[in-house]
Amino acid sequence: MKTALTELCQAIVHQPEMHCKWLNTLSLMENTGARKISASEHPVHVDLTMLKHAAEEFRHAFYLKKLIGRLDTNSCPTYAPEYLLAPRASRFYLHQLDIAVCRMLLQEDRIDRARMQKGAYLLVTYAIEVRADELYGTYQQALDGVQSRVNVKSIIAEEEGHLEEMQQLLQQFDPAWKTLADRACRLEEQLYNNWIEAVAAEVGHLADTPTTVQ
Ligand SMILES: [Fe+2]
Ligand SMILES: [Fe+2]
Repeated sequence: MKTALTELCQAIVHQPEMHCKWLNTLSLMENTGARKISASEHPVHVDLTMLKHAAEEFRHAFYLKKLIGRLDTNSCPTYAPEYLLAPRASRFYLHQLDIAVCRMLLQEDRIDRARMQKGAYLLVTYAIEVRADELYGTYQQALDGVQSRVNVKSIIAEEEGHLEEMQQLLQQFDPAWKTLADRACRLEEQLYNNWIEAVAAEVGHLADTPTTVQ
């Protein structure tokens, strides 16, 4: 059975103008993530894993932006709202998730500032990587279905690596990490559902997309 995301991706790859905006929107969200990681780096004690993670998220933002050129060289020059899908929801998804996860951690006993910052970084990133895995995988299937010139396979490979790193770091952070991670994923799911609904409303034609379409 097709999911809402599958239908959305299939509708997007059939509409070049929407497809450019979709790539630009994903680029914006990757860039927001990269900037957040950079901002939370310790000025002295930042390690190789975190530097790599920030560098790869910046690369995703750059690469997605570059892919727009394969569809239309003049499309979506900036992250201005008219070049994005669901600009508000796309812009604030990550910030809202950050706030929700910080609130969740504040309910914990004996939480100090350093632990909260670290926990929020790990849990937010974990939830996003779980989502990225699903989203880019489904998007790539839709791209394969139309033999698109666009592909996101290199992003998928790097996001899988990030998810594994986050799992390892969360295990060190808290033995009961899975409970916290599941709660973070539930918070993320609400924001994701709002986002996908807003994107689908703009893409339109979803109800008209024939189910046999590749
Ligand atoms: Fe990414
Ligand atoms: Fe990532």
